[in-house]
This record gives sequence, structure tokens and C-alpha cells, in this order.
Amino acid sequence: MNAPFKAFRLHSLDGAVTRKIESIQLDSLSPGNVIIKVAYSSINYKDALASKGLNNIVREWPRISGIDLTGIVVESLDSRFSPGDQVLVNGYGLGVDHDGGHAQYARVNADWAMKIPQGLTLLDAATIGVAGYTAGLSLDLMELNGLNPISGPILVTGATGGVATIAIDMLSKRGYQVTAMSGKPNEVEYLKNLGATEVIARISSESKFKPLEKAQWAGAIDSVGGSILSWITRVMQPGGVIAAFGNAGGAELETTVIPFILRGIRLIGINANSPMNIREKVWKKIANEYRPTHLKEIASIIGIEELSHYLDLTLAGKSKGRIVIDMSR
Ligand SMILES: NC(=O)c1ccc[n+]([C@@H]2O[C@H](COP(=O)([O-])OP(=O)(O)OC[C@H]3O[C@@H](n4cnc5c(N)ncnc54)[C@H](OP(=O)(O)O)[C@@H]3O)[C@@H](O)[C@H]2O)c1
Repeated sequence: MNAPFKAFRLHSLDGAVTRKIESIQLDSLSPGNVIIKVAYSSINYKDALASKGLNNIVREWPRISGIDLTGIVVESLDSRFSPGDQVLVNGYGLGVDHDGGHAQYARVNADWAMKIPQGLTLLDAATIGVAGYTAGLSLDLMELNGLNPISGPILVTGATGGVATIAIDMLSKRGYQVTAMSGKPNEVEYLKNLGATEVIARISSESKFKPLEKAQWAGAIDSVGGSILSWITRVMQPGGVIAAFGNAGGAELETTVIPFILRGIRLIGINANSPMNIREKVWKKIANEYRPTHLKEIASIIGIEELSHYLDLTLAGKSKGRIVIDMSR
């Protein structure tokens, strides 16, 4: 277990963050009681921000990025895991204040690892990743708040992104009518193939709106925040449910209480770093009734050498679907 392996590490010098693919050994990883041979990791928007030192996401350096991973346990000091177990890990500070998934090995706390639900491969679980978990958690909480496929159409924003592509896939499979909002006019066919019935252009961040606009959607899954989320609050049908988890377009939210008190809309905050009992429940649904059917079209599989390039594309809002890193390459 002392053989060197490849790791994508972020370093900070005088406030400037640099990225390096390095050869390291297990003893330089953050501590933990389970060692995992990483099969796949992925790129999430948070990784892209961290890789540039933005939003104060990483505060201790050097740091291996990667907020999610799937892999095989090779050593465990915890009785819940044995060598050979296929596991997934995300959240709990992985890739933020603990070395993450962008390396061929990871060492984590056993409390953070979950056995991959039956029926999902290591690649399926990595393609879904924290993004698909966020989509599944959104759907679960929206349905707990009364949403169902006959409530009306659902809006998904940032539609070509990681969370949104899986959300479109899951929603359409479940019988929802999905409107995808995207800033990429060339991806209309791609989004329709994933299950969107309609694709609309991203609204301008300069637009001005009345407290109530024409009521259009029964539900919304919002990756973007800022002016788009502000607009969404004004265009929900009575009783409409919004799942808000993203800030790809801004962190502010300017709205009024009018849609809340006249249309009874609900705004649900989504935090994917949820307790393990909720993860287990939602992942089981993702592996069964929510199971996405277009994972092959959603995943672009890359090697560690291409990671830096794809992090930049993600930060620029130019990536599409889920970028999955095959750690054996
Ligand atoms: N709360 C949580 O626990 C949680 C969990 C996962 C993700 N997130 C957040 O959710 C968001 C989406 O994550 P992701 O992994 O899906 O990201 P992603 O793959 O980078 O997708 C984000 C999408 O948003 C759109 N977009 C990008 N820049 C934009 C801008 N300036 N204005 C408007 N739209 C823009 C783009 O889609 P189009 O070009 O198609 O419009 C882009 O593909 C991020 O903010 C992420 O940090 C939060």
C-alpha cells in the first residue's frame, strides 16, 4: 500500500491557486479509517470554484479536490466496511477540508461512506454523483410538498448542467412534463433527448418583473439563483414548489412576499450534505423509482490529465452534463 499514485492537488501561494498532478503516497492523504481505491470521481461546480481559490471553499493547502467519488474499499478499520465493498462518498468536507476524490486513492472517515445501492455500477453512481443526489433530493422534497406528475409542468434551470440534466431525466421518466431553461441554444436537441418537452432560452439578468407574472409552472428545480430564481418566484402556479440549491448565476434573491401570500408558493432549500439516513433513503429511490435512463448520454468520461481543462469549462458555464473522471486512466 505504499506505492505512489496520481493525485490532482491544489496549492496556494500568496493567494494564487495552482493545480498539479502529483505522485504521492497514502500517508500524505488526510486521515481516515477507510482506504478506498477510487474508480471514478467527477467535476461539480463547487470543484471548479475551489480550483481557482474562489468563494473561500478551500482554506487549507495543499488540497486534493473532488467533492464526490466512487471506489472499492481496500482497507478498513471500521467493521461496517470490508475490502472489496463498492462505496460512494460525497459531502462531509470531502474535497474541501479533507482530501477529495481527484486521486487514485482516498482515505475517509467510515461515517461518510455509503455502500452503492444494488443495481448501480461504480460508473452509474459516479455519473449520478452529488449532482444526481441533489436532483433526487429535490424531487423527493418537492413530492413530500405535494407535487406529482399531474400538478403541471416543471421548470429546470441551468438545464445543461450536472444537476439539471439528471433532474430532467428523472422527472421525465417519472411522468412529469419538463421545460428546460438553458443559455446554450445549440443544446435544444440534447435536452429534448434527455426528456425535456420544451426548451426555452435563459432570461436576461437585467430583466425587470412585477411581483406576480403569468403563472406557468407547478414546480421548479433551480441551479442558478440570482435574478432567475427571483423571476421563478413570480411565475409559479398557485401551490407551486421550488427547489433551490444553486448559485451558478448569483447568490442574491430579490423578490416580494406577494407570490407566497397570494399563490401559496413554497421555496425549499436543498443541501446535499444531508444526514446519512436521508442519503440512504434518497439513493435507494435513485437506484429504483427515480432511476435515470440516459446516464451514458449525460456522462463525458475523461482522464486526470484533462481535469484542469474541464474545471475551466465548468467555471465558464460551458460544460454539459456530468464530467466523470476515470481514475484508472
Ligand atoms: N445546495 C447543494 O447542496 C448543491 C449541490 C449540488 C450543486 N449545487 C449548486 O448547484 C449549481 C449547479 O451545480 P452543477 O454541478 O449542476 O453545475 P454545472 O454543471 O456547472 O451547471 C450549471 C449550469 O448553470 C448554467 N449557468 C452557468 N453559469 C450561469 C450564469 N452565469 N447564469 C445563468 N446560468 C448559468 C449553465 O447551464 P445552461 O447553459 O444550460 O443555462 C450551467 O451548465 C451550482 O451553483 C452548485 O454549486 C448545490
